[in-house]
Amino acid sequence: MTNKYMYFIANWKMFGGLNSLNSLHKVNKFLKTSKKKSTKIIYCPPSTLIRPMSKKLKKSSIEVGAQNCHEHETYGAFTGSINSLMLKNVGAKYVIIGHSENRQAGETDKLINLKIKSALKSGLKVIFCIGETFKQKRKRRTKQVLNKQIKLGLNKINNYKKILIAYEPVWSIGTGLIPKSNELFQTINSIKKIKRNFKVLYGGSVNPKNINELKSINNIDGFLIGGASQDPNKFIDIIKKTYN
Ligand code: 13P
Repeated sequence: MTNKYMYFIANWKMFGGLNSLNSLHKVNKFLKTSKKKSTKIIYCPPSTLIRPMSKKLKKSSIEVGAQNCHEHETYGAFTGSINSLMLKNVGAKYVIIGHSENRQAGETDKLINLKIKSALKSGLKVIFCIGETFKQKRKRRTKQVLNKQIKLGLNKINNYKKILIAYEPVWSIGTGLIPKSNELFQTINSIKKIKRNFKVLYGGSVNPKNINELKSINNIDGFLIGGASQDPNKFIDIIKKTYN
């Protein structure tokens, strides 16, 4: 049983339409009846749903975030892009930056750094994703890879209170695989050693079946959840089990 302040962040990725917002009702009701004041729930839907979701959650303590932003701090001729100011304007409080799905599509550490700076400047909090590939893990380079991602991603940034680190091993995303408990504990510890007040979340195949194992790793400050967060029952189950 944990008494810690825990984050449960739903990353809907490129899933969901207006009818998906109906599922929020269940989670909101659960949160209201749960006595846990130490639970922070954040939904990161596709950008098209940020506004209607924020409206729907106006009276709720659940907050809304975005999944990415353009690095440009002001408006500009960037067809198809959305900047952090625009996200803030429609109700986002957070933004995920550096997700491995975007890194794999060509997002560099330098670009990630610019995006984080722009998000902080616009008043958003940042969910900064880092993680190693399976090949890097096999070569025992995890620590080195994560240190580099943090160093470059947070270059010339010291507003750490507005940043949550999400450790998401690339090989565990959507695969059903999770790191061994002792390895995960050590990795989280080594991230926290870089800055003692970093909040570090874990992401990658978190589900109602493996949450009992994950929750026993006591240096984790919460979870970034993909697939399982689209089903309100699974999402609630994960939160409930974390505290039981
Ligand atoms: P899954 O939970 O579907 O593995 O996704 C994790 C993730 O990428 C969250 O950002």
